[in-house]
Amino acid sequence: MTDRSRADWWRDAVTYQIYPRSFADGNGDGMGDLAGVIDRIPYLRDLGVDAVWLSPFYPSALADGGYDVADYRDVDPRIGTLEQFDEMLALLREAGIRVIVDIVPNHSSDQHEWFQEALAAGRGSAARDRYIFREGRGADGELPPNDWPSHFGPTCWTRVADGQWYLHLFAPEQPDFNWDHPEVRADFVRTLRFWGDRGVAGFRVDVAHALVKDLSEPYARLAGYSVEHLPLDGSHPLFDRDEVHDVYAEWRTVFNEYDPPLVAVAESWAPTERRPRYARADGLGQTFNFDLLVAPWKAKAFRTVIEHNLELAAASESSSTWVLSNHDVVRHATRYGLGDEVDLVAWLMSDGTEPVVDAARGLQRARAATMLMLALPGASYLYQGEELGLPEVADLPREALQDPIWLRSGGTEKGRDGCRVPLPWASDEPGFGFGAPVGHLPQPEWFGGFAVDRQLDDPDSTLALYRRLLALRRDLVAGDELTWLRSPAGALRFARAGGWESITNFSNRRCALPAGRVLTSSGPLDGDRLPPDTTAWIIAD
Ligand code: BGC
Repeated sequence: MTDRSRADWWRDAVTYQIYPRSFADGNGDGMGDLAGVIDRIPYLRDLGVDAVWLSPFYPSALADGGYDVADYRDVDPRIGTLEQFDEMLALLREAGIRVIVDIVPNHSSDQHEWFQEALAAGRGSAARDRYIFREGRGADGELPPNDWPSHFGPTCWTRVADGQWYLHLFAPEQPDFNWDHPEVRADFVRTLRFWGDRGVAGFRVDVAHALVKDLSEPYARLAGYSVEHLPLDGSHPLFDRDEVHDVYAEWRTVFNEYDPPLVAVAESWAPTERRPRYARADGLGQTFNFDLLVAPWKAKAFRTVIEHNLELAAASESSSTWVLSNHDVVRHATRYGLGDEVDLVAWLMSDGTEPVVDAARGLQRARAATMLMLALPGASYLYQGEELGLPEVADLPREALQDPIWLRSGGTEKGRDGCRVPLPWASDEPGFGFGAPVGHLPQPEWFGGFAVDRQLDDPDSTLALYRRLLALRRDLVAGDELTWLRSPAGALRFARAGGWESITNFSNRRCALPAGRVLTSSGPLDGDRLPPDTTAWIIAD
């Protein structure tokens, strides 16, 4: 059994992502809040997670669901107060659950006092230098400085009243900071200490690969922004530049002021070969690996992803992370129900014809995939609602959509709201127990069927499965080793230290169950056979 109190607890922790606005509404104003989190601590404790990661809860105009932060050292009044944050932290600590918070260093909100100051101060001012302001092209500077797109729309430049342009890799309401500016660096260090001193265990670092940029002119021509377009030598002007690690080296000295040291996990869309840099002990310490999330449901693909990421983890002397769902992607219960040929990203981004989803198969594969993930060495990150087997809400009314991807694409790209719908807690209560009224992203009628109260006493429910797996994992997991075992065709089988193993049948035919005692399985077994799309954990008799 692993010692949960050890300083490197994060190496094999299970962390549960809370998207605060959609988790639970404690004060009945229609928006999820810290009071809601406090109410649900018994639920989180019984689920058996080691830590929670709170997506942004800071004051925000919500142009990007809170990833547009107006004040890094406060709580949005609609979500709670600093006192409530402290209370939540203390109560979670009593329940044995650590807290990591999201930090968004690439950009602030345009409502941030520094940006407001920069607008007021005018061109050439010291205040403008904390962000990235440039002159435009054309006779009157009426054209943006270059043709770079933003992640959420056609251009990453917006013009202000006096004619200058500022850079935003995301929405115009998210101006990018100038990380060459010492005040920006110093202010983030202050923010890290602010939350560290309150008792958080660490941080999830948003867009960690983008902070430091080379904006020297003439501007580089870019092949694209996605990982496959990034050079391996760190020469892209916007992403994964070597200098970004100087920032994290400084942050590490701050993390190490605490006992145990604070932890951090990078959201870094860097080329795989360069990902370990973000996970080194002299930097952030851990990085997300989204490879499992995009892998097709095939034994070979999963094995390749697992082997590769265990190698990368070893190269960084960190542990690997694993993710199947988060607030930016289609929920995995739905993803696995799409035909194999459906391009997930294209579907998320298109408002065209919806593909047919085989919901039963999706859920069955999702349960098997989660169970495989939880058997792997390393740390797993769960996203709120996946423990209920919640599908994506693909048919949200168009007028309810809030994602800047939807708004800025002029309604041609659907965006990420479908995985952010408020959770169903009680099937017969208004707002399905989330709180009423539900102020954002309406819950569909069928959400009640997935409510927590429907699943609690049902041993076959997805919630019961997650609780079983997390409890077993606490007893079983020891060390980092994984040994591949001879698998039946279309299956993946590996052993972990302590004489237990996991087997997943990816094929469409039953396969033989290995000898031993079945600890649990993601679906019903068929005598001594493992049905398709099912995982079992087995221990030597
Ligand atoms: C977050 C997104 C957000 C973006 C801009 C990401 O990677 O996960 O939800 O829209 O950063 O902050």
